[in-house]
Amino acid sequence: MNQQIKNLKGMPDIYFEEVEFWQELENTANRIFKSYGYSEIRTPIVEETALFQRGIGEDTQVVSKEMYTFEDKSGDSVTLRPEGTASVVRSYIQNNLSARDEITKLYYKGPMYRYERPQKGRQRQFHQIGCEAFGTESPFLDAEQIILMDRLTRALGISRYEISLNSLGLKEERQKYLEDLVTYLKKYEKDLDEDSQRRLSTNPLRILDSKNAKVAEICREAPVILDALGDESKRHFEMVQGLLSKAGVEFNVNPHIVRGLDYYERTTFEFVSDELGAQSAFCGGGRYNQLVSELGGKPTPAVGWALGCERMILIMMATRTLRDTKKPGAYFVALDDMSFQKSFELMQGLRDEGVACESGYELKSMKSQMRRANKLGYKYAVIIGESELAKESVVLKDLEKGEQEEVAFTDLISKF
Ligand code: HAM
Repeated sequence: MNQQIKNLKGMPDIYFEEVEFWQELENTANRIFKSYGYSEIRTPIVEETALFQRGIGEDTQVVSKEMYTFEDKSGDSVTLRPEGTASVVRSYIQNNLSARDEITKLYYKGPMYRYERPQKGRQRQFHQIGCEAFGTESPFLDAEQIILMDRLTRALGISRYEISLNSLGLKEERQKYLEDLVTYLKKYEKDLDEDSQRRLSTNPLRILDSKNAKVAEICREAPVILDALGDESKRHFEMVQGLLSKAGVEFNVNPHIVRGLDYYERTTFEFVSDELGAQSAFCGGGRYNQLVSELGGKPTPAVGWALGCERMILIMMATRTLRDTKKPGAYFVALDDMSFQKSFELMQGLRDEGVACESGYELKSMKSQMRRANKLGYKYAVIIGESELAKESVVLKDLEKGEQEEVAFTDLISKF
């Protein structure tokens, strides 16, 4: 036998019932984004490596350790996108998307790639649905985006989750804070884990969201970024909080939400669920006012978030079952060759009207056909034999209730 080829580690297939959750997630997101005035953008999966190095930050875990980077045939360094923001910003600048209106609101969905150690809710190919909005510093936009995500989560039947909110202030405000933070952490340097010791000089903010228990303990007493905010940043943060409360969105302020990517300032947030184990965040985002200019565009404030589809679906699947009733439509059961041909024709008529139907492709025993009708979960079976054919009718059996009735060919469509 030829050797079987398997998928790459951390890049699973998605099929059957699980796909229905994906479609529900995507369809609901499409609908809700539209109602907030967002339009979809589709950017390539592969980009020049420099885009992510500059966009996400060289010192981040994602860029330094996790990128799928390789040389293409002409020797250029290219990378499978590890996230969507940098690509959307590139496209926003390159295609002059701001020309159409003062505010540009975009959303996207698709696969992302990070070379991480796979575990529950963490894969090497994973999918995000995300949004980016450009053109204003207004806290109304930050709040609106968090409300949008909150409403999407609820529309998917998820009710147990928490929103952690923080403000990282502006770069200048953070500068002073970082000095205080490093001074504080230096006192405990030898108790920090290796990663955190290194970050003391590269990215001290990240130490605050370390998963190491001892480091977390040390950080509990660390200076708090919120105390270092200037008046404008404080007012901005208070506005966001007020707007969320008015919209009925519950949140907790958590000064340790610093996020793993370098581009954030002011608002940052994460949605977390206890259904997910260690990888508890199913959405993260925040404001990034410098990124557009850092990638070569006119200075333009922006804010965005991305949710992890796999994590969202894990929660959906843990929270509820998609379908406890039968699926609409019919399975056709034919008892002889002539009826088999007729059912092929009748099915086509129904499908053309949008009714789902199926049957086998070869004549089999009635028992085996009925078994398949039940296995596939259809609400109805449509049974045709010699006598039905003569009367130009079918037997329509409700597989949920067990009742059946005779229905003329011409009336069949009215039953669905
Ligand atoms: P992020 O926090 O790196 O942010 O990713 C957002 C979400 O993607 C996470 O909360 C998580 O649900 C999911 N995710 C990340 N890595 C994996 C993985 N290896 N396996 C499964 N799911 C994963 C960003 O990517 C930013 N671009 C978000 C953003 C948009 N900020 C502003 N605009």
